[in-house]
Amino acid sequence: MNHEMILVLDFGGQYNQLIARRVRECNVYCEVHPYTMALEQIRAMAPKGIIFTGGPNSVYDPASPHYDPAIFDLGIPILGICYGSQLMAYSLGGTVETAPVSEYGHTEVTVDKRDALFEGVAENKNSSTVCWMSHTDYIAKAPEGFIITAHTPVCPVAAMACEARKLYATQFHPEVMHTEEGFRMLQNFVRRICGCAGDWRMSSFVDTTIRELRERIGNGRVLCALSGGVDSSVAAVLLSKAIGKQLTCVFVDHGLLRKNEGDEVEEVFGPNGAYELNFVRVNAAERYYAKLAGVTDPETKRKIIGEEFIRVFEEEAKKIGAVDYLVQGTIYPDVIESGLGKSAVIKSHHNVGGLPSVVDFKEIIEPLRMLFKDEVRKAGLELGIPARLVYRQPFPGPGLGVRIIGEITPEKVRMVQEADYIYREEVEKAGIGKELGQYFAALTNMRSVGVMGDFRTYDYAIALRAVYTSDFMTAEAARLSWDVLMKVTNRIVNEVKGVNRVLYDCTGKPPGTIEFE
Ligand code: XMP
Repeated sequence: MNHEMILVLDFGGQYNQLIARRVRECNVYCEVHPYTMALEQIRAMAPKGIIFTGGPNSVYDPASPHYDPAIFDLGIPILGICYGSQLMAYSLGGTVETAPVSEYGHTEVTVDKRDALFEGVAENKNSSTVCWMSHTDYIAKAPEGFIITAHTPVCPVAAMACEARKLYATQFHPEVMHTEEGFRMLQNFVRRICGCAGDWRMSSFVDTTIRELRERIGNGRVLCALSGGVDSSVAAVLLSKAIGKQLTCVFVDHGLLRKNEGDEVEEVFGPNGAYELNFVRVNAAERYYAKLAGVTDPETKRKIIGEEFIRVFEEEAKKIGAVDYLVQGTIYPDVIESGLGKSAVIKSHHNVGGLPSVVDFKEIIEPLRMLFKDEVRKAGLELGIPARLVYRQPFPGPGLGVRIIGEITPEKVRMVQEADYIYREEVEKAGIGKELGQYFAALTNMRSVGVMGDFRTYDYAIALRAVYTSDFMTAEAARLSWDVLMKVTNRIVNEVKGVNRVLYDCTGKPPGTIEFE
């Protein structure tokens, strides 16, 4: 890609992704690379600017991440943030010490000199602006040639700059929302200081990617596992636009999809859809139900569903024969995260990670590996994929299998599909879907006594779940309107045979998880 680019050099900070996102919000392309990236590589990459992220270490600890000080002589503008600012100070002869008092959270910063970074910032009578601090070390003395451009009562060098060398540093985090004028500062850095034009647009990404895919693939054959989720759909359409019928998409309908979902995917990607590609739908529901009969343990269910997916896909891949490329819907957060330590397995996630071992292919293609989720959606709209598909809520690989507590039967699948459909319909009608991170119905394994007409019933209870979340790592139960809940409850108990009770899940994550199994 020959776009103007900002390089984010990652020193282990928790906000590294956020910095990249903010830069892209300035319409400037940006990549995150580990601080171990060689100087030669950086030179070859020729970024228009470099940002050093924060990080948990102390620069004077010999084991902490450092960088060859020759980077400051490349003539490329650099912005150091938090640890990155301390590293800049330390490497250029300034002094970094443990601060007498750590600063954490909202902090009023006084701007002493409105340099290019602070242009249009803190324009009030105190020249102050609220910033987000999170540090225990600080720059006690700026290196020679630098001027102090901001301070706080605790922090003598909240920001410094050497304008002649285009080196800038902030002790606070401009990338987080709590830094009220942070976006302006980042925009000043990438636009004014680095001179980026800010012409990174989704349309240009789409056009360039299609061209590049076409060149790379030539006459090759490509295989893609299509789930109907936004990532694999956008990847499939990019490839279809690039190479048409050289692409085969295999869509495994495991019988655990939401109501009508299999047909909806077929409508978009199948022979009557708008795209040129080979579409293979495998209706494997019976196979899955047979394997899952009598199984109640959540992890065993997940494993069976995951393994069966691989087997079904393997069979289809064999029919197609050897291919040149296998598509993976990896997106940028996965790429950035993959370098980090693994946390404890709470649930074994089912994705297509196991595919490479069963498909005869030469290379993997990941057309979305540089995009954040919202950018994938933008690319999807740009490519003409229907909005209902582009804005589809996240749906777990094992599907309704993890929304039916205990044993899975076709009858239970029907109940949860119908209830979920009603729930989604009413939430959409009420126009409240956009605020919710995720919402769905699950079937509890609880049966209870009820009365319908003059008859006793002994039927299942549906649990409704709706959460506010932005990262899906933590979530809060949504305060759904009582009217909507009542409407949904009435419809479910009246319309879904086998259900006589509806419950609402008020649990957050933690301690709950979003899904039930
Ligand atoms: P939990 O239940 O772990 O869910 O709080 C967090 C998010 O991940 C989704 N999820 C999955 N996605 N394969 C997936 O691709 C899975 O096995 C899986 N399990 C959970 C869940 O829907 C939520 O968005």
